[in-house]
Amino acid sequence: MEVIKAAILGFGTVGEGVYEAIQTHQQQLQNILGVEVQIAGVLIQDLEKERNIADEVLVTTNFEDILNIPDLQVVFEAIVGEDPSYSYLSQAIDKRCDIVTANKVMFATYGEKLIKKAQTQNVKIGYEATVAGGVPIIRTLAQQLQVNKVGRIQAILNGTSNFILTEMRNKELSFENALGIAQELGYAEADPTNDIGGFDAFYKLMILSSLTFGEQPDWDEVKIEGISALSNDQLEEANQNNFRYKHVAELIKEGDNISASVSPVLTDADHPLYNVEGVDNAVVIEANLAGTLTIQGPGAGKKPTASAMIEDFVHIIQSKKTSYALS
Ligand code: NDP
Ligand code: HSE
Repeated sequence: MEVIKAAILGFGTVGEGVYEAIQTHQQQLQNILGVEVQIAGVLIQDLEKERNIADEVLVTTNFEDILNIPDLQVVFEAIVGEDPSYSYLSQAIDKRCDIVTANKVMFATYGEKLIKKAQTQNVKIGYEATVAGGVPIIRTLAQQLQVNKVGRIQAILNGTSNFILTEMRNKELSFENALGIAQELGYAEADPTNDIGGFDAFYKLMILSSLTFGEQPDWDEVKIEGISALSNDQLEEANQNNFRYKHVAELIKEGDNISASVSPVLTDADHPLYNVEGVDNAVVIEANLAGTLTIQGPGAGKKPTASAMIEDFVHIIQSKKTSYALS
């Protein structure tokens, strides 16, 4: 059977999730794609950490080792921040590898550039996991709403913030305790500043803007507010009055103007995001033909994120097979 060789950059919550999903779904992948998927290399920072990786897999701290894997076809990227991710993915594209990334911080800034570069090399980039974890929002906007004109997107895009707000309200946990649980569950980033400060949702919103409108608003014009200033008392008072605080990211297109904001919003029971609880994310899309669509599901964590990445991978391999068949 034909073998597709892949590498994983980063072996934390997400990288390990992708590795495990490929092992546990190998038969399904073979049935769908007619190929064996082999993880040939894993890039990490700390060689001393215990990891559950098969002996035959190259585990390295040197990206050159990954690039030198013979016949490497796909790179899954799950490391943190802009650098060195952008540089690694640029080099992987130059080597004509397809890319699947979860790194929204990097992709919000460099996504458009990487997509253009990938086109010149005739390779593909999957970035479903950069926005809303396991929720297939990128594919929905890119493939299912191509003719529709989208005027507005309202969303909960940070699983950690929604989880914290839900736990503080329902279980009266302190902010710190709820954040600690979100970290233990692999929802929050190792450094949770972006999660609780609203920046994580902002980066995701910018990715949605590029995809939906072909451009992003001026970042300096976007109001970005996180949830860290909300107290248990405020949440309780809202609750008594049948309101809930939700961390809402919003994009509006009016004429040529795109406006965006990310902030806690007091919602009532009629608001489409009022009942989105726990680690769930949801995206409400206002489209001119389809009307108002809401798509919801787990927005963070090992399995949902691995799901987004493995489905991207399958689509990429299938799309290549299709174009080979046509040519
Ligand atoms: P973790 O902190 O759990 O893991 C990060 C991994 O990347 C670690 O294995 C670390 O190595 C490795 N790493 C970091 N920097 C480098 C580097 N410069 N070179 C090589 N390896 C490096 O993060 P997550 O798995 O949670 O997240 C990974 C990415 O996915 C991030 O960009 C995150 O924003 C995004 N994401 C996370 C989701 C989640 O639910 N957690 C969901 C969707 C996206 P080592 O193990 O040696 O320390
Ligand atoms: N830390 C992120 C969140 C992970 O909580 O939403 C998913 O991107």
